[in-house]
Amino acid sequence: MKTVTLLIVIALLALAACATTPNAPVTAPAAAPANTQAQTAPSAAALVQGETVNVRIKDFKFIPDTLNVKTGTTVIWTNEDSARHTVTSDSGTELDSELLALGGSYSHTFNEAGDFAYHCTPHPSMRAKVIIE
Ligand code: CO
Repeated sequence: MKTVTLLIVIALLALAACATTPNAPVTAPAAAPANTQAQTAPSAAALVQGETVNVRIKDFKFIPDTLNVKTGTTVIWTNEDSARHTVTSDSGTELDSELLALGGSYSHTFNEAGDFAYHCTPHPSMRAKVIIE
């Protein structure tokens, strides 16, 4: 009887070893992609919260030409035209970019509420505004 019990125990141990060995490589790669997704999710959520907002400069227009955002928001303007543009406050110095070439960008964080009208220095007809609430 003892021999039979021993054989059963050995058989069970062998089964357990066989069962865990193939499972380990399967679960390990599955965990890695899950971690990668978890790391990218928070940054995507941060953008959704509106802390950073993008304005496109395209076809001699600011898109959107009126932007309503909350205090503390960072706005990033990116020029998609081959022509150079600026982001320049109509009055004051809140917005004062260099000439932006194609692909160039300018960012500014608005820390106070108010209406901030701006234009493009080489093209005064390009007008837009940011409303900070
Ligand atoms: Co312009």
